[in-house]
Amino acid sequence: MTNGWEESSNAWIADMGENGDKGRQFILDPALLKLIKSEDYKSALDVGCGEGRMCRLLAKNGIKPIGIDPTLPLIEHARNLDNSNEYIKCFAENLPFEDNKFDLVLSCMSLIDIPVYKSAIKEMVRVLKPNGDLIIANLTAMNTAGSEFGWQKDECSKPKYYAIDNYMYEKSNWEEWRGIKIKNYHRPLSFYMKSFLDNNLSLKHFEEPIPIGGGDDFINHIKRMPWYVIMKWRKNEI
Ligand SMILES: C[S@@+](CC[C@H](N)C(=O)[O-])C[C@H]1O[C@@H](n2cnc3c(N)ncnc32)[C@H](O)[C@@H]1O
Repeated sequence: MTNGWEESSNAWIADMGENGDKGRQFILDPALLKLIKSEDYKSALDVGCGEGRMCRLLAKNGIKPIGIDPTLPLIEHARNLDNSNEYIKCFAENLPFEDNKFDLVLSCMSLIDIPVYKSAIKEMVRVLKPNGDLIIANLTAMNTAGSEFGWQKDECSKPKYYAIDNYMYEKSNWEEWRGIKIKNYHRPLSFYMKSFLDNNLSLKHFEEPIPIGGGDDFINHIKRMPWYVIMKWRKNEI
């Protein structure tokens, strides 16, 4: 059964361009880079690397990345743009690496796309060195819970309020925008938090980042309903 990523690859690559979409450019990448630069990471695994933007950013910042993703056209595009780093086609739920390999494991907007998130988190922690960091960027659970109703508009078509329902029910949604049509997953925040806590991790950073640019309307829009959550979890020594 397809998740839409193969079919959406060309549209995704076009939408990301060189610097990512608006959310990545003005919210995610600056917040992630700040975290990444605050430690002396030498090696990193980018889980669900897509067309490789984060791997290229990691490499620019002196960190040796490996990118993994199950969507072949995205991996091939990443390899074409960057032949000095390794990109491997595989699933997060079954990583082809030995235990305790990486200083940093990064999942940038991939947990929402991963069907068996508990196995993926277990694998990400397995390949992380003790005292290494797992950095997660994901859509907020409020955001994914709103995929059914979402922004309600007033009579002038201005966003009035953001409607969510059935928050505690895990479910998959088909999302469609700018030629991309993919399946992603809503899970309450507590489901992810429980899985991190069950895997020998300690929370070191938690943020609902707001844009550092992109115009006042964009900033106000995100302040009304945050799109992203960013966390840094450290793997305990035992
Ligand atoms: C929203 S994109 C994020 C891409 C990139 N990390 C970024 O932030 O621009 C989600 C990615 O997750 C990948 N993906 C889907 N299922 C996956 C799985 N089971 N394991 C790892 N990655 C998966 C998709 O192929 C896609 O590249």
